[in-house]
Amino acid sequence: MAKHYRPCVLWFTGLSGAGKSTTAAALQTQLTELGCNTYLLDGDLLRQGLCKDLGFSEEDRAENLRRIGEVARLMVDAGLLVICATISPFEKTRRELRSRFAPGDFLEVFIDAPLSVCEARDPKGLYRKVREGKIAQFTGIDSAYDRPTNADIHLHTDQMNPEQCVAQIVQYLQTNHYLAVK
Ligand code: ADX
Repeated sequence: MAKHYRPCVLWFTGLSGAGKSTTAAALQTQLTELGCNTYLLDGDLLRQGLCKDLGFSEEDRAENLRRIGEVARLMVDAGLLVICATISPFEKTRRELRSRFAPGDFLEVFIDAPLSVCEARDPKGLYRKVREGKIAQFTGIDSAYDRPTNADIHLHTDQMNPEQCVAQIVQYLQTNHYLAVK
């Protein structure tokens, strides 16, 4: 049976606490319900295995994301709709990642919330530790985050709940013929 979706990667980028993992998990559930074969590559989990030798310097983050990008590429090749949830702070790295995919196979999804909101949410207590001086090179504090300027999808998670974010992504996928309209 022909697939009713186009395999691609939805590459989430955003600050810690912006809502990447939450949105990604909700999106995966919704896409599975719509009959898509999906895989979720979550930065926090990959850093426990595939990328456990890497830290948070610019070089290590670039290598972390390169590896995840290569895995995502294989998965797209295998016919999956892949969701990647990593901070992906640097524009240069995101540009390099996109260039590894066929045109249209890489969709950048900006999970956007102001730093003040992310810090107030602080779901893992990391911002508190940063402010106590226990973590260095933290994205948005003492390590840069280049705000995407050409994201394919831009979600304001301080203004929308996860269901609304998922709906916006699904609508994008349908409008752009990645997903059949049911
Ligand atoms: S990335 O910069 O290489 O894209 P990635 O998404 O894999 O980062 O990992 C980020 C996660 O690592 C955060 O969600 C947080 O839990 C944890 N973390 C630990 N130290 C840092 C740090 N210095 N900067 C950002 N995230 C950190």
